[in-house]
Amino acid sequence: MSALNVQIYRINNDLAELLFNPGEVDLRVGETLTLRERESGRSVIAQVIAFRSATYPSLLREQLDTLVGVPNGHSDGRGNGHSDGRGHTNAHSDGRTDLPPTMEQQLALVEQLEGHEDEMGNIKVALAKIRKTVSTHHNGDAGESGDAHSSGDARWEDWDGWIPARDVDISRTGDRELFANATTDKGHRLYLGRSLAGHSFHIEGQDLEKVNVITGVKGSGKSHLAKVVLLQLIEAGAPCIVFDINREYIHLPPVQLDPQTGKTLKRGIVHLQAGGNFRLSVRQFGLSPLMTLLQRFGLPEVSALYFENRMARLWAEADAIEQRNGLSSVPYVGLEQLIQMAEANEYGGSSSSTVVNHAIRSRLEAVRNTNIFARNPKEAASLGDAYRKIREGGALVIDVSSLSNLAREGFVQAIIELIKDLCLWEIDHDTHRFPFVFFEEAHLYVSKKSIDYIVTRARHLGITSFFVTNMIHGVDEAVLRQADNLFVLRIPFEDDVRHVSRGAATDYETMMAFVRRLRQHHALVIGNVTAQYPLIFEVDALRHVNTAGETRYFFRE
Ligand SMILES: Nc1ncnc2c1ncn2[C@@H]1O[C@H](COP(=O)(O)OP(=O)(O)OP(=O)(O)O)[C@@H](O)[C@H]1O
Ligand SMILES: [Mg+2]
Repeated sequence: MSALNVQIYRINNDLAELLFNPGEVDLRVGETLTLRERESGRSVIAQVIAFRSATYPSLLREQLDTLVGVPNGHSDGRGNGHSDGRGHTNAHSDGRTDLPPTMEQQLALVEQLEGHEDEMGNIKVALAKIRKTVSTHHNGDAGESGDAHSSGDARWEDWDGWIPARDVDISRTGDRELFANATTDKGHRLYLGRSLAGHSFHIEGQDLEKVNVITGVKGSGKSHLAKVVLLQLIEAGAPCIVFDINREYIHLPPVQLDPQTGKTLKRGIVHLQAGGNFRLSVRQFGLSPLMTLLQRFGLPEVSALYFENRMARLWAEADAIEQRNGLSSVPYVGLEQLIQMAEANEYGGSSSSTVVNHAIRSRLEAVRNTNIFARNPKEAASLGDAYRKIREGGALVIDVSSLSNLAREGFVQAIIELIKDLCLWEIDHDTHRFPFVFFEEAHLYVSKKSIDYIVTRARHLGITSFFVTNMIHGVDEAVLRQADNLFVLRIPFEDDVRHVSRGAATDYETMMAFVRRLRQHHALVIGNVTAQYPLIFEVDALRHVNTAGETRYFFRE
């Protein structure tokens, strides 16, 4: 990799200030640079996080300040200096100590700058964060070949504090080296887009597993990125489930099955419409989500207790019948039947049974109006059956757009329970085809309790989740911290960035610098998929896929 015409101005802790002429060198935020000390061949890896303009007089003044002892860092005069920021001499990790630059050296820089006032008008300072050291083992012969970094073999280690001193060559770190160190390849590569240098950017599917957060301001491209990931997962043969609140995923290519064998001819999506062709039986829905729903409709606590008791007995009887005679012999219990039971005062309540049963009945009627329950056994869809259609690669797109907010929350909670059952089945059969679940606009319908449940049980159950949300403050700090990967699109607001950086494995400074001004269609990713190295990439445009949502317009074309 050829050296760039970039000079170290000074190094302050882990922050290198680099001088360059933007007319000559085009540096970008997020780009990775190798700073190699010519004499020793040792290198550090630094990432550009920001720019500031420098004027000739300002640089000169800073130099003069150091000359007269203002503690502002120091330089060795050839632009190759470093400082600990307090004006002290710098102890290297290998025991060497650099003397502060001499006055002669300081003046040399001033001289060097002089006579270049025109160009100096264009000079810029790039702030680059030192993140890694290149393993000396792999870097040992670099001094001779001078080209260790272009091989892509250089291995990174955590930065140990060593900083290059004199005669430093600065070059762009090649994508091969970057990817070799930040990503892995276990044979399940997913294509996400392009690196800043324009090369294909892949991540390892296994590194995506468990908990992911995709966040960014409204319209920044979160759903688009989610679709990119989803389509790659489908192609890689993974089963996915999407909670689609805006009917944005329903136009993705549908799955094609052989009508005879049921085998997958072409991987794709299955569109399930909650409240339409996809309704659950009361038993499938599960008692706990049903209780939540009834209570959200205002069922008083005492009535809830009576109802829950009776239902628990009812399902125990159903289980017993199923055990003895099979599922088909279990009498069907739908909401209608439950309402009739209330009319017959069957939920108990002793002296206040009329009040209790009346309360239960009115809430059951409200639940009936949500349309999430099957009205007869034929209508009751099975998530397991649907899952089988996409188990070898595909997605169940569960369209929850027509449900009310309350119904949606209960419905999703019930589906999460059913997903758990699917996972347990996979564990029991040692088949491990665990789903990747996308929660679009998660903040609108996934309760904190459900999120906690998914996040804490994910590792045990095998579920991988993606929480897609623009309500950045709505994402619990604990979830952010437990997230294996964080995909961040543009976030212009400082407050939101602060919140996100609490969980991320990177510093606030980097997060601020990267996401506040992310270019259109670019995303930052940090986590297991990048070995915790923050990477910016351009998200694939998905040109040949219909990614359009269904926005209804008044003023139509
Ligand atoms: N990488 C990309 N290439 C091409 N188009 C993109 C890309 N990313 C986003 N878009 C387009 O930009 C628009 C907004 O993207 P998207 O709907 O994904 O944003 P969002 O963050 O999910 O917004 P909202 O908060 O409203 O849900 C869409 O029309 C989408 O197709
Ligand atoms: Mg969206």
